[in-house]
Amino acid sequence: MRFDILTLFPELIMAVSGSSILGRAQQKGLIEINAVNIRDFSRDKHKKADDYPYGGGSGMVMMAEPIYEAYMSIVGDLETKPLTIYLTPQGKLFSQETAKRLASHKHLVLLCGHYEGVDERVIEEIVDEEISIGDYVLTGGELPALVLVDCVSRLIPGVLGNEGSSADESLVAGLLEYPQYTRPYVFLGRRVPDILLSGHHANIQVWRRRQALKRTLLKRPDLLERAGLSQEDLKMLEEVKREEGLSD
Ligand code: ADE
Repeated sequence: MRFDILTLFPELIMAVSGSSILGRAQQKGLIEINAVNIRDFSRDKHKKADDYPYGGGSGMVMMAEPIYEAYMSIVGDLETKPLTIYLTPQGKLFSQETAKRLASHKHLVLLCGHYEGVDERVIEEIVDEEISIGDYVLTGGELPALVLVDCVSRLIPGVLGNEGSSADESLVAGLLEYPQYTRPYVFLGRRVPDILLSGHHANIQVWRRRQALKRTLLKRPDLLERAGLSQEDLKMLEEVKREEGLSD
C-alpha cells in the first residue's frame, strides 16, 4: 500500500514514519510512505506556498497551484486515481471502521493543511474525503495524517509480526482490551492474577472476556451498545454489574 502525503513540513512526516513498525513495514516493502513537499512546486522565486486571504481576515491561506502541481506529480501518469483525503477538523471523525475501509485501498493521497486553511478550489478539484481525528484543533494536518497512516498500516497483512494481534484487541472486537501482565510475578506487592498462571486455557479465555466487559462497562459504557454481545457476554455483563453495584 502506498501513502503520498502532501505537506509543507516533510521533515515532520519523515521523523515519525521511519521508526518502529512503520519503518519495518517499509523495509519489508509492505507499505511505502512518501512525503511530497508542496513548496517544491511553487512557481514563486521565494518558494512561497501561502498568501493573504481574499476578503481580508487574519492568517494566511495555502495556495491552490503548488498543491495541485504536487498532486499532479503523483497522479499525472496513473490510470486509476488514488483516493485523496484532506485532514481537517471539518472532516468526518476518524474511527477504526474508517481505517478498515481505507486499508482496502492500494494508494492514498493525504493533504495536510496549515495556517488558516487551503484555497477552496483545490479542495474541490482533488479531494474525495475530509477526515478529522478528533474535535480539537491542531497546528496542521501532519500529525493527523500520521495517525491515519499508522492506524491503516497495522491492518495490512504482515505489518504486525503476529497476524492475530490486530484482530484480537481493543475496539476491533468492539470492547476494550483485558489487562495484560508480564514478569515479575510480584511488583510493588501486587501479584499477577492466579488464573493466568493456571495453564487452563479455557478458563483464562473466560476470565479475559469478563475483564474486557468489565473495563468497557467502567471506562467506555457507550461502546457496549454497539459491541454485538452474545447471550453469554450479556450474562457475564449482568454479573459484573451486580459485583460493581451497577445493576439497574
Ligand atoms: N488539522 C488540524 N486539526 C485537525 C484535526 N483535529 N483533525 C484533522 N486535521 C486537523
